[in-house]
Amino acid sequence: MSEYVEIFEVGPRDGLQNEQRQIPAADKIALIDTLSRAGFRRIEAASFVSPKWVPQMADGAEVMAGIARAPGVRYAALAPNLRGYEGARDAGADEVAIFASASEGFSKANLNASITESLERFAVVAKAAKADGMAVRGYVSCVTDCPFDGVVPPSDVARVVASLRALGCYEISLGDTIGRGTPEAVDAMLDAVLGEADAAALAGHFHDTSGRALDNVDVALARGLRVFDAAVGGLGGCPYAPGAAGNVATERLMAHLEANGHATGLDAAIVAEAAAMARAMRGG
Ligand code: HMG
Ligand code: MG
Repeated sequence: MSEYVEIFEVGPRDGLQNEQRQIPAADKIALIDTLSRAGFRRIEAASFVSPKWVPQMADGAEVMAGIARAPGVRYAALAPNLRGYEGARDAGADEVAIFASASEGFSKANLNASITESLERFAVVAKAAKADGMAVRGYVSCVTDCPFDGVVPPSDVARVVASLRALGCYEISLGDTIGRGTPEAVDAMLDAVLGEADAAALAGHFHDTSGRALDNVDVALARGLRVFDAAVGGLGGCPYAPGAAGNVATERLMAHLEANGHATGLDAAIVAEAAAMARAMRGG
């Protein structure tokens, strides 16, 4: 039997957050409802961040209230601080994600905080989540390269992974935020990170700026990772990461994994339908 590899769909959040045109909540809801029929176990549906920083995600509560929840699907939301956590929880998120950076330059640009300050804020979120019995996922951005600081040492990534583990994150997603990571750099990064966390507690989050995302997935698979974030239609980028292109496209990643003998549990026709919807939303 082929081994299951999970694709964590992040298109409605990481994909859409960077679009300049304000996408109506109804369109986001329709996209999530289509994704809910495709076989994903987890879908990142919204962010509860400052609307001054990311206006596109300001309608998170409306989106969460409007989706038709499919049984067996967990709907996740980003929470940068306690206010964001409470917004996500009150909107019915099944889990929240806290998001630190391995580089100081990106931490400042994305969160207006040093790495240490951001982890202090995330500790408050993690404590509140624990009290509520809410699962917390962690992200580390800029795991190989930072748009401001350049090459990021693997030991810096490992340190932030250890901090997020200590805060109780059940899984940590390793983000090549600007898609500049080479397979060699990803392998060296994973070598350091695996000293702090088991492969079963890690996910790969590759952006495809340099067309290396699938090569980087293969490196991570060889290191034992079995969860990868992706966005239908290859949507995305990050408003605070100049030059970042989209996430690896779910449909490409799915085809790649299945061609290599892995099972994704996804329905290709529904994924294609969602990818077409996502592409239609792009650019506007
Ligand atoms: P700040 O300006 O330092 O903080 O932002 P603040 O507390 O002064 O807040 C500014 C304003 O936002 C205030 O409003 C707050 O009330 C409000 P004002 O008083 O001026 O009217 N505010 C909020 N509103 C709603 N929800 C909230 C919230 N918090 C404050 N939760 C802050 C600090 C962390 C808030 C800001 O920097 C922020 O929201 N950053 C998030 C940026 C973001 O979402 N980036 C994209 C996601 S990360 C990513 O894409 C990478 C990833 O995909 C992995 C990878 O690819 O590597 C995860
Ligand atoms: Mg991302």
